[in-house]
Amino acid sequence: MLEINETMNKEHFHKHTTLNGQLSFDEISPGFPVIKINNEYACATISLYGGQLLDYKPHEQLEQVIWLSDQALFEENKAIRGGVPICWPWFGDYEKFPAHGYARTTFWEIESTKQTIDGGTEVILKMSCHELCQNFLDSHPLFDCDLAITITVASKLTIELKTTNNSQHTVGISDALHSYFKISDIHTVDVIGLAQVNFFDKLKNQEACYEESKMRFMTETDRVFIDTTNEINLNDPGFNRTITISKKNSNSTVIWNPWQEKSSQMSDMSNQAWLQMLCIESANVLKNQLLLESGETHRLTTSIAVKTYI
Ligand code: BG6
Repeated sequence: MLEINETMNKEHFHKHTTLNGQLSFDEISPGFPVIKINNEYACATISLYGGQLLDYKPHEQLEQVIWLSDQALFEENKAIRGGVPICWPWFGDYEKFPAHGYARTTFWEIESTKQTIDGGTEVILKMSCHELCQNFLDSHPLFDCDLAITITVASKLTIELKTTNNSQHTVGISDALHSYFKISDIHTVDVIGLAQVNFFDKLKNQEACYEESKMRFMTETDRVFIDTTNEINLNDPGFNRTITISKKNSNSTVIWNPWQEKSSQMSDMSNQAWLQMLCIESANVLKNQLLLESGETHRLTTSIAVKTYI
């Protein structure tokens, strides 16, 4: 944990202005610094731990767009449950290392903050892979990639994860922007944009093609859709809105809801929380894993826009 006191706070943040009041700096829990954004479009919170957006709410919306668990734990080596965690440089389990990699359990640094031409707010955080766990670096001495995340809060939310391969070798990485969306009720929402797309069902350990135009949810769901760049619409009649998720440089989309039983085993989710969240992740995983040549940069981008029904 970072020991944040008055001096540390200044060290973290002193180079960065408040952009005429758009930005403020705070702690969400002792030792866990966050950047708070409030501009003409929306409010948002970004955690330096994990380089993770925690919430985003356009002013005209009554509800948060991004779900953050009310039981989220702020502890070192534990990912924050909710927001948009970054899965990198692998997705899911990998050997003896923690699921979804280390980016979500590392403290990132602020690279820059600025006001965009249209009055939005852009924050860039960076992380060097030398911050990754020593165990991993010892067994992967040639791995040398840097990461930067650019979060732009404006009429829509845009998140870009940039990986640069600084090593002399080609490296294989997976990445995912593991967005948790806040929904009114998992039983009444639907997802459009995955018809006729092949997926790997992690629960059945098998591949299939999704035939239907609308995906609805009646049970635990954990699917990796492959070879798809499609835009996704998450229709939520209960919140009277559609969330549109578009992406660039992403060939996989992951859909996940743990349902009642699995979420009851999670210490960082309250009993009924699974009803109000759905993960739709822009990713490059499984056979869409990336091979980055020496010196190559990859930018995974997702944009999230919300439209209220008239
Ligand atoms: C999803 C995976 O992306 O993340 C699931 O497809 C996994 O299999 C889920 O359970 C949550 O992972 P974690 O490590 O944050 O509990």
